[in-house]
Amino acid sequence: MITNRTFTMLKPDSVEKGNIGAIMNKINAAGFKILALKLTKMSVLDAENFYSVHKERPFFNDLVEYMTRGPIVAAILEKDNAVDDFRSLIGATNPAEAAVGTIRNEFADSISENAVHGSDSDENAKIEGDFHFSGREVY
Ligand code: CMP
Repeated sequence: MITNRTFTMLKPDSVEKGNIGAIMNKINAAGFKILALKLTKMSVLDAENFYSVHKERPFFNDLVEYMTRGPIVAAILEKDNAVDDFRSLIGATNPAEAAVGTIRNEFADSISENAVHGSDSDENAKIEGDFHFSGREVY
């Protein structure tokens, strides 16, 4: 089922560097409607669960440490073709490979600290949105 929704997190490096406003401006300018939004902090258990698909990867422990070291901004976004269009807007996982003008090209430092998350499928957008938001927090 295509829902036209995606889920994003502005990761701790984006919050630390004061980039929340600049990144949200790009998201708005690209035509995404904000359905849910909050500043929150993941616990170690949250991050281990959220990234469980990566648990065998060599970077897993560093990823959990990074994602739990400070607050994140979590959001559910709506737009036609939201998942694919948002992944185009954020650019490649490795900012060195991210197209000019993408969020990771402008705001990310490295493949491990890459500024933003974007869901990779409609199914995961729903799972990830539900992970962070209750029904009454989504408008
Ligand atoms: P994201 O694609 O949002 O979700 C998985 C995260 O793991 C990814 O962003 C990066 O933060 C991190 N990651 C992915 N690949 C690597 C890698 N090769 N080395 C370190 N971290 C990575």
